[in-house]
Parts: sequence; C-alpha cells; structure tokens
Amino acid sequence: MRQVTVIEHLLLHQKQVPMATGRFTRLLNELILSAKIISREVNKAGLVDILGYTGDKNIHGEQVTRLDEYAHRVIVHRMQRAGVLCAMASEEHADLIQIPHGLPVGDYFLVFDPLDGSSNIEANVNIGTIFSIYRAKKERVGPEVELSDVLQKGIEQVAAGYFIYGPSTMMVYTTKDGGVHGFTLDPTVGEFLLSHPDIRIPEQGKIYSVNEAYWNYWDGATQKVVSTFKDPNSDLGRLYSLRYIGSLVADFHRTLLYGGIFMYPADYRDPKKPRGKLRLLYEAAPLAMVVEHAGGMATDGLNRILEIEPQELHQRTPLFIGSKKEVEKAREIYKESKSE
Ligand code: AHG
Ligand code: MN
Ligand code: MN
Repeated sequence: MRQVTVIEHLLLHQKQVPMATGRFTRLLNELILSAKIISREVNKAGLVDILGYTGDKNIHGEQVTRLDEYAHRVIVHRMQRAGVLCAMASEEHADLIQIPHGLPVGDYFLVFDPLDGSSNIEANVNIGTIFSIYRAKKERVGPEVELSDVLQKGIEQVAAGYFIYGPSTMMVYTTKDGGVHGFTLDPTVGEFLLSHPDIRIPEQGKIYSVNEAYWNYWDGATQKVVSTFKDPNSDLGRLYSLRYIGSLVADFHRTLLYGGIFMYPADYRDPKKPRGKLRLLYEAAPLAMVVEHAGGMATDGLNRILEIEPQELHQRTPLFIGSKKEVEKAREIYKESKSE
C-alpha cells in the first residue's frame, strides 16, 4: 500500500468535506504531534519515573496517574497555541479550558480523554487518547466561552476518534460525512501511515465485553441482556466468548475490527443513583460516531448515544456499542422490560 499520511488522506479523500480547511488540518496536525509525544512517554513509562500516582484525585474522585496528567498537559499546551480552538475540555479538568488571553483563537471545540485506561499503565496493557471535535455553536459573546456556546449532541461532531498506544501506536478517526480510517505510526518515519482504509464493523461478531463482577449491582433487564450472550441457544444463534481488557479504547478497537458488543451498563452500587461509569462527551459520543460511520450502533441501552443532549461536561452514560445485531438485541430486551 502506498504510504499515505493522515493529512494527505484527509486532503485526498475528504476534500469534499468543507472542514478540510487549513484550520482543521492544523488542528489534526497538532493533535497528532501531541499523540506522538504521549506515545513516546508511554513507551518508556517503565523506565522513567513517570509511573504511579500523583496523589491527586480528579473531579471523578479517581486517582490521577502521572501519565494522565502528563498527557493532559501535552495536549492543552499544544492545542492552546494552535489558533484553531475557542475552548477545550478534558477529563482531567473540572471546567472548560479557555484559550489564554493573547493567544490566537478559532471556532473549533476540542473535548478529550487524555489517557484512557490509565489503571492499566503499570501492567503494560494498551491505553489510549480519545478526542471529539465540534464547531462552537455561535459567535463568542464575551471573552469567556460558556458551556452553552459549545455543549452539543454527539451528532454535531465535526470529527472524532482515538489513539491507541500498544504493540503499535494507531490512530482511528472519522469526519462528519466521512468513513472510518486507521493509521499506524511508523516510528522510523515518525508519521501515522494509512493501514486500515474504510473500516467496516461486522454485522454480527462472536465476542461480548463487559465487567461481570458488577452482576449483583445490575437490574433484571441488564442481567437478561448479558445472559443472552452467554446462551448458545439464544436467537443470536452462536456461542460467544467474553473478552474484557478494562481499557475502553482497547476493548472498543477490538470490537470495531472483530465485531461483537462492548457494554458498560448502569449499575446500582448506589441504590439511589444508578450510573454508568463512562463519560458521554469524551468517551461514549466520539466512539459512537466512529462505530456508526463503520456501520455499527451505540446506545445507552435504549437511546442512540449521538442523540443525547448533554447537560454538563462530565455527564456519565451507560454504553452499549458495537455490531448492529448485538446492540439491537440489547435494545430489544430493554424495550420489552420497559413495557412490562
Ligand atoms: P479512564 O482511565 O480514562 O478513567 O477510563 C477508564 C474506564 C475505561 O477505560 C474502561 O472501560 C473502564 O474505565 C473500566 O472500568 P471498570 O474497571 O469498572 O471495569
Ligand atoms: Mn477513559
Ligand atoms: Mn482518562
């Protein structure tokens, strides 16, 4: 295959899409450079004193690893100076991140999970960076961008995708009306080169992916959904395997290429407040855009992820994502249980 870089591919195959403008290309370039820097640190994580925890907790009350912090800082530092963003939001920062006064601004809004799967870093398991790009909804009114200027349904994303740091570092992304394309970093060239053009997810797979340890915290409908994938005589008509890595990017990437379903259902650990752990804006929505553009589906069990109207930056959602056949099956069971 001829060596095609991300930007060449964008200009070649997506030139009909208006946002293949210089500013969008600049945004993508800065994001790619950030990922190369993060990948370099991830690949030597075992060697330098970058492992372990900072001792801080993020807004979710989760331990922040040094690599989370590092990845967050790399992206914020580069993207603030790119002159293409009006604001950005990160899993590792409670509020909107404004562009400092005096730096050039643009009208794109970047939301990202700087390092996904960070609890796996010490075990040398694949981790990743997830990103989602919107246009600001209207001209900025004041010097500060408000949430109301940028919060939108996932269907409004201009582009979305992820980097996965593992045996090889890959970038998978899609644009508004584009397909899904995978690029593999060639460290000898220092470029992401097209390796998986036009990714399509199989209509049905044979892997389901969920953390079954929470079985006792799920409601009956969820237990019924998961049981279906354990029943070789169900109308899905096949015996499934269970694979669960615990890094969303890795579990999703496998699902995208092999088919099947990844689930993170709501659990009732707090009986008064059922919740799905994953965050809508920088985990569920970007991956939902990728999977839909590859021919798959993504719901919160019942509703299409891309249609959920976000109310706040770190809002959580249950997530059922993957091949149409399996995600549709889960939705059928939830619909039935609702009508009982
Ligand atoms: P992050 O490291 O960005 O906080 O994400 C961790 C998430 C996601 O990567 C993964 O699917 C999920 O946590 C695993 O959660 P459990 O350990 O509860 O299964
Ligand atoms: Mn994450
Ligand atoms: Mn994270």
